[in-house]
Amino acid sequence: MTLRVGIVGCGRIAGNHARALHQVDDVEVVGCCDPAADRVAAFAAEHGVPYATPGLDGLVELGLDAVTVCTPHPVHEAVVVRAAEAGLHVLCEKPIAVDLAAADRMIAATDRAGVTLGVLFQRRFWPAAQRIRAAVDDGCLGRPVLGEVSVLLHRPAEYYASDAWRGRWDTDGGGVLMTQAVHQIDLLCWFLGRPTQVSGFIRTHAHGAHIETEDSASAVVAFESGATATITATTAANHNLGNRVTVVGETGAIASVLEFPEGQEGVNELWTVPGETHLSTPFDAAREARPDIGSINARLGDFHTRQVQDFAQAVLLGREPAVTGRDARTSLAVVTAVYESSRTGRVVPIAPPGEGAAR
Ligand SMILES: NC(=O)c1ccc[n+]([C@@H]2O[C@H](COP(=O)([O-])OP(=O)(O)OC[C@H]3O[C@@H](n4cnc5c(N)ncnc54)[C@H](O)[C@@H]3O)[C@@H](O)[C@H]2O)c1
Repeated sequence: MTLRVGIVGCGRIAGNHARALHQVDDVEVVGCCDPAADRVAAFAAEHGVPYATPGLDGLVELGLDAVTVCTPHPVHEAVVVRAAEAGLHVLCEKPIAVDLAAADRMIAATDRAGVTLGVLFQRRFWPAAQRIRAAVDDGCLGRPVLGEVSVLLHRPAEYYASDAWRGRWDTDGGGVLMTQAVHQIDLLCWFLGRPTQVSGFIRTHAHGAHIETEDSASAVVAFESGATATITATTAANHNLGNRVTVVGETGAIASVLEFPEGQEGVNELWTVPGETHLSTPFDAAREARPDIGSINARLGDFHTRQVQDFAQAVLLGREPAVTGRDARTSLAVVTAVYESSRTGRVVPIAPPGEGAAR
């Protein structure tokens, strides 16, 4: 069977989706939609997509099996719920949504329709990230007891000015945590398990003149297992030092996955498992420190392809995708808990899994 797929939203990241869909077996890209008329036509021409239309309803009429969703985050919910109601499987870009109630409605709508919901966190497909997860599973790190997320990125003012929706609470839902660090928070929770409590602060330091959301954040997360972790995130760094997620296991072994330059496939910067220290790849600050957004997205493309491939197989074989809607809800729960903690000055609990909740 061939999966007939449409692309919803034809902006920056949609090119990765089109290239991925063209490369994956048993998939046919049949259409794309975007209310920006010039953009959707140019996108269809550039990527060899046979049909372009302003809205999702125009795609649904084509008789699709699935859509991938590349709209700004606050628009994810409306698209995913409508697609589910039309009986379509959905692979949605991260973050799943900008608040937990929206994420729950998306999970409930896809459950009700009996369709697959996957969320794009392509960094899980890096071999270096999978090596950490395997080391947690096979016990060679022991139970993870400490974690550390470090997101030290540079974004120029033009990045926020280039799209009207960026940097505003109503149209972006958050800043560096919601848009950038959510990838590393997803990895952290994949390694450490279910988060239960969060405390944190958000600030706007470098970009305060042109955005209302945070450009910097510090937070502490406690996990059900007893592990704890810190999150440091900013888009206000001058030298873009990329992203790093570190895990300390109860054996004392330390493992980290480093993404530097930003967008580059992660490597195990630290790997102190006895007898395996040769797996470490040292940090080299001389590497590219100011990659532009286009090249960052382009370098992530191969891993978009792997996740699209996983999603297509999940639909065709009737199994769960690598990252489910419930998985994606977990990283969103951490991000929104940091916002609440910063606003209230309290430690914010994250509810245990339930119907429509993280598990
Ligand atoms: N996985 C990754 O590494 C990665 C990288 C970049 C962006 N993203 C995610 O992808 C999403 C889009 O980001 P972007 O940088 O491509 O944004 P963008 O602004 O470049 O593109 C968004 C597009 O969606 C269109 N759109 C808005 N409402 C729509 C609707 N109702 N139906 C159809 N199209 C609609 C806009 O006209 C625009 O063309 C965001 O959620 C972002 O977090 C993920």
